[in-house]
Amino acid sequence: MQRTAEELAQTERLENLYERLQSPVMLSMERSVCGCDYGGSSWTTREEAGDLIAMLGLCSGKHLLDLGAGSGWPALYMARESGCSVTLVDLPANGLRIAGERAARDEMSERVTTLVADATDLSFSDASYDAISHSDLLCCLKHKRSVLASCRRIIRPDGHMAFTVIFVAPGLPEKQRLRAVANGPEFIESDADYATMLEDTGWTILKTQDLTAAYAATCKRQIEADEAQRDELISLIGQDEYAERVDEWRSKFTAIKEGIVRRELFLAAPRIS
Ligand SMILES: C[S@@+](CC[C@H](N)C(=O)[O-])C[C@H]1O[C@@H](n2cnc3c(N)ncnc32)[C@H](O)[C@@H]1O
Repeated sequence: MQRTAEELAQTERLENLYERLQSPVMLSMERSVCGCDYGGSSWTTREEAGDLIAMLGLCSGKHLLDLGAGSGWPALYMARESGCSVTLVDLPANGLRIAGERAARDEMSERVTTLVADATDLSFSDASYDAISHSDLLCCLKHKRSVLASCRRIIRPDGHMAFTVIFVAPGLPEKQRLRAVANGPEFIESDADYATMLEDTGWTILKTQDLTAAYAATCKRQIEADEAQRDELISLIGQDEYAERVDEWRSKFTAIKEGIVRRELFLAAPRIS
């Protein structure tokens, strides 16, 4: 699948971001915001990661595929806690390198594989994974259906997929819709809702969970963490970027609280016809 110039630019930005997220101040903020310190870039909290382990039935002997794995959050944590094996896929090589180093520190390298690959065009064999996860990946790329269709092909018949995604609340007047788009991830818009896209690509939805309130709470903790670590953050990123960042969190928080930007979890199983 051809990636757009905007998507290629996103990967380049993330190559740098994953390095920066390893700085002590960023890791310290991540502990207070999401309860983890992997250098994550999604809004997945430690509590949500624990729920994913249970929903996907992860344990020793199972193989998880995590797409858009970044620097390993939350998939490395899920593998560490459950004992499963995990394959991490993403495009920025820096994130995956950091994930590999974390796996080595956690003495679990033999259960972890990293692969630079495009989630819209996966070359794994049919029916090769017990579980698939992705955290806020689909709002970071254009071809959402291609990812869901690829996942459908490679999941085992008794496997499950769980993912979170940020989206624009349906049915908004144009002005609010535009504000939602401006306050969401880069590719938040989709031509259909996620239930329809899952149905169209051969999945049965087992569970959905509205995470919007939790997302608002996490965003609020992020604003508080930025204020608490103001001086250290300014030393790292400079006054201008700090001011932009704080404005951005505040604007996002308002949009989430108003319900025009939402976050949801989907648990799905392959439809067997
Ligand atoms: C919101 S981040 C989540 C990263 C990590 N899982 C976390 O929770 O911190 C989404 C990730 O999706 C990746 N991504 C975007 N488009 C992709 C694609 N076509 N194939 C694979 N990964 C992609 C990005 O590089 C980014 O690392």
